[in-house]
Order: sequence, then C-alpha cells, then structure tokens
Amino acid sequence: MCGIVGYVGDRNAFPILVNGLKRLEYRGYDSSGVALAQNGEITLYKKQGMVKAMEEFALAGDTSGSTGIAHTRWATHGQPSDKNAHPHVSNSGNLVLVHNGIIENYQALKELLQDNGFEFHSETDTEVLVNFIQFIQDQEHCKLRKAVRIALTQVTGAYAICIYDKNKPEEVVVAKLGSPLVVGLGINEKFIGSDATPFLEYTKDAIYLEDGEMATLTAKGEIDIRLIESDRAVNTQAHKLQMDLESIEKGGYDYFMMKEIYEQPRAIYDSFRGRLLAEQGIIKMSGLEEYADRFRNADRIIMTACGTSWHSALVAEYLFEEFARIPVEVEYGSEFRYRNPIIHKNDVVIAISQSGETADTLAAIKMAKEAGAMVFGICNVPGSTIARETHAGAYTHAGPEIGVASTKAFTSQVTVLTMMALELGKIRGEFSTSQYRALLNELSVIPKKVEKVLESKELVKEISALYKDASNVLYLGRGVNFPIALEGALKLKEISYIHAEGYPAAEMKHGPIALIDENMPVIVVAPNAGHYEKLVSNVQEVKARHGKVIAVVTEGDTEIVQSADHVIEIPETLEALTPLLTVIPLQLLSYYIAVMRGCDVDRPRNLAKSVTVE
Ligand code: M6R
Repeated sequence: MCGIVGYVGDRNAFPILVNGLKRLEYRGYDSSGVALAQNGEITLYKKQGMVKAMEEFALAGDTSGSTGIAHTRWATHGQPSDKNAHPHVSNSGNLVLVHNGIIENYQALKELLQDNGFEFHSETDTEVLVNFIQFIQDQEHCKLRKAVRIALTQVTGAYAICIYDKNKPEEVVVAKLGSPLVVGLGINEKFIGSDATPFLEYTKDAIYLEDGEMATLTAKGEIDIRLIESDRAVNTQAHKLQMDLESIEKGGYDYFMMKEIYEQPRAIYDSFRGRLLAEQGIIKMSGLEEYADRFRNADRIIMTACGTSWHSALVAEYLFEEFARIPVEVEYGSEFRYRNPIIHKNDVVIAISQSGETADTLAAIKMAKEAGAMVFGICNVPGSTIARETHAGAYTHAGPEIGVASTKAFTSQVTVLTMMALELGKIRGEFSTSQYRALLNELSVIPKKVEKVLESKELVKEISALYKDASNVLYLGRGVNFPIALEGALKLKEISYIHAEGYPAAEMKHGPIALIDENMPVIVVAPNAGHYEKLVSNVQEVKARHGKVIAVVTEGDTEIVQSADHVIEIPETLEALTPLLTVIPLQLLSYYIAVMRGCDVDRPRNLAKSVTVE
C-alpha cells in the first residue's frame, strides 16, 4: 500500500508533490510526508493524518526547493505516527527515501546495521532500507545508483522506492519490484508517481517501470533504466497516457463514491462500446478471440480475485455455467496462492481486479502461469501490473475509480464477464441464436435502465435515515443475486462500520434466522426473474419474526410489495442481467447511511484502495 510522488526540475516541487499525494490518498492516508532539497540540506515535513494536515504544517515553514519526494502511508510496520511517516533519512543525514511495499528481511538487515552502530528512530522497514543503502555506499565508496542496486539485490520483499542524496539533489533514483511506479517525462523535468495521476496536468508521456528495474532521473537528461540484478541497460518506450484530469476530480459531488455511482451508466456503456455490436448481433473482444481455442477447449475456468472483484467473479460463475456450460471455480487470491491448488494445462484462469495491483491476485496469477494455465486478466487500470502479467485480457474501461468502496468497477467487471459468458456460449455451441441476440439486445439497453434505478435516490435516502443506527443488517439473495447480497453487505460494512452479512436466502433458516427480531433490517434482493416465489416465502419468514424488510423488486411487483416494509424498484430485465440493476440501490443505501453516520465515505478507516501487500 502507500503512494509515492517525486519531482526533479525547475518548478517549486512542493505543490506538485502535495497535489500528487492528494490524488494518491486512495492508496493510504494515515500519515504523510515530504522531503525537499534546500541548499544542500533535506527539509522534512511529516504528520500523522491526512495529507491536508501535513500540508498545513509544512506551509508554516519553508517549502522552497525544486527536487522533492513525498509519501502517503497505509501502515504496515509500526502504527500511524509522525515518526513512522515517510520520508526516512539515513543516519548520515545524506540519503532520504520513500517506499511503497514491504521489506521482508528487514529484521535481519536491522540487526546487521545495529551491529555496525546504526540507530533507528522509527519502527519501519523503510528506515532500515535507507540505512542499508547508506551502509553499502559507505563500504563501496560508490555512487548512489550503485549502492541502491547492490542493496536491492540483498533485499527480499516488494518495493517501489524513490531516493536522493542531499549532496546531489539533481539526481533521483527509483526502483520497482512488486509495487507500481511510473515516471512522467516533461520538458526539462521528471515526475514520479505510484500511478500517473500526480502528474497528469504536466505531461502525458510516461514510462511504467517493470519489476526488477531501476532508473536514474535528472531534470534534463535521458532517463537511464537498468535491470537491478545485472545492471544491464534497458530500452523502454514511453506510453501516451489516455486519462484526463476531469475524470479524476469530483465534478461537484460531495464524494468520489457518489460520482462513481452516478458514472455507472457511462461506465457500463464504455465497457461494451465497440465490443457489443447489437445491430450486427455479435460480440467482438480481441483478447478473447486471440485465445478462442483455449477457451473452447477449456476443461474448467478458475476465477481469482479479492473483495468486490471476487463478488463479480461469483456473478460470472452463474453466467459462465449457464451459458457456456463450463465448470467454474471462484477462488480468493489469498486462499488460492497458499493451498497447493490443482491446476491443469487445460484450465483457463481469469483474474479480476479493478486496480490490477492486488498482491494476492497477482500471486495467484503467477502460480497459475507456472502451472501452465492460460491467464486472462480483467482490469480497470491500463498498464497495471496484472494487465501486464496476464497472457491476454480485457480492460473494463470504467475510468479511474478513486473512492475506496468499489462501485462502477464492479458493474463494468460484471458487464465484461457477461459478454464473455455469452461469447463462450456461442463459441462452444451452447446457445440458440435467438437467445444470444435477446441477451445482447438487453445488455445494450442496461445503461438506460441503470439511469432509471438512480432516480430512486431520494427514496433510498429516506430509507437510509430510518436504518442508519442499526447495529446489524442481513442481506439475502438467490442465484445470480446471491453475490449481490454479499456485495451489498460489504459496501455497508466498509464505509459505515455497521456489521452486515450476505446470505443465500434459503440458508437463512440454517442459522441467521435466529438473529431476526424487530431491530433487524433485512435487505432482500428479489427481482421477478429467478426464484421469485421462494423469495416471497423468505420475506414472509422474516416478517413472521418481526424483522424489517427492505426489498429490491421489479417494477409492477404485486406480492413482496404487500409484506415488505419498503420496496425499491428496478426496471424489468432478463434474469442474467439483474445484478447490474439490483446492486445500484444497495450502493446508494450504504452511501447515505455512511454519510448520515458522519463517516468519511471515500476514505474509510483502516482501508486502502489497492491492497498491494498480503
Ligand atoms: O483492485 P482490486 O479489484 O483487485 O481490489 C480488490 C479489493 O481490495 C476491493 O474490491 C475491495 O474489497 C473494495 N474496497 C471493495 O469496495
């Protein structure tokens, strides 16, 4: 976790660094810091709390300097505090470093350094790393670049680092293994970021460093990229960034989460634009076409993901089995990687991740590749590690998702997975043309139907006010809407801190029914397509125990509407596509409840947007 920013050039570095950190707060926000090169000295500002707190603290002092590095932290080693905040300075006072990742052998290195007289002032692995680099430099009497390289060959773990020497601040060294790092190439200036957002307004030319690479940056010189292991020079082409600034700003909404909920009609449309050709009755996905034979002959599909992305895999499990008749297993990346799974060469693995940086999903991919499986990635962030590590894939094109609670990334993942399920059904001959076309046509009008669901905003707000003080909430769904119950519960707990659980509705009577009394809100996802009559009975069971029922139903519902305490309607659609509509009121409900409870919706406590550590 954590976000890093750096700058070397002619401008005042501080505002660039601070604005960059604010854009990276989705990666962590428990403390932050900046180091500025000022007249041969390192000026350091560090503060516990959000970037704003550090900015105010720094503005009371001297913030000049045209080289600087900065960091926003999500604590791993040592609790959030001023002293554990980055940047960290070496004992000599010469080197200053920011780091995203975990140095796994930091304890052994720390002992070695202590034996050699080094002292530590924080509990972080990063302070060990900066001193280890200094130790190597002292021993080898070498340039910073060489010391960094030698040190990193002795380090195990994951890192993206950015370091400079106060005696040569015109040169910044960066390196990457397992954590993202992007260099922005300006005219007579260079930018560094954990992603490209910190420097979007300055340059669209960027180089994504690969694992095992390091680079030396000066304002005017060519970027010098080398392999850490061998010191061999690498020739890398710059990418043209496609993102624009507007897409990462709040655009009048109070929170990014609400903006992103409202962006869903557009995000879903963008995820099928150019792929779903409804008039011609075809789907064209180049990544899928390229590996059509592997998919056609697959014995099994394994989907791996974490969190909300895992929920989209669960939705896809129903669709792939229904339409393509391929057995599907859905695995948490974290479980898959550590349990010696059986992976055959004929298996296809689909890895799903908004950020494309989730450590457990990435480890699962590496394992599947080693076992000879073809790995297909579904990511939102272009150029992310997972996008690059997979054999083929499809971007979701939802645009930057900043709110920690995933919303538009989920619906666009489900859209892409739905198209894949339909196409595989066709490739494998499991589908009648009319069925295929009906689904295609209906998917093409889903964005309009999402817009319709969003009109229920005021009603959801009123319902939220009634239940904002609940201690527990139960979410029930069946079939393809069971994962939506899980997703609704996850949304509520992560941003409002209310305990919530999602269950397949029929499982309620195997345990959770014991929890139901007049204080228990039960959210029932009950569109008219699929298992509706069973859900009517489940609602009766809850009401018989005085539970409060909030039901998501299809327009024109006649049965559940009679017994539920509140109903929120979605437009009529085909059963397979209902998750794209039923999830929307649940996102809104969690949003309003969290806002009414005074929670910071975009930055829930203890969480970060991308979990790049295990
Ligand atoms: O970037 P990823 O999709 O790989 O992230 C996976 C989870 O960390 C993420 O979905 C998390 O559960 C969200 N906070 C849920 O809203």
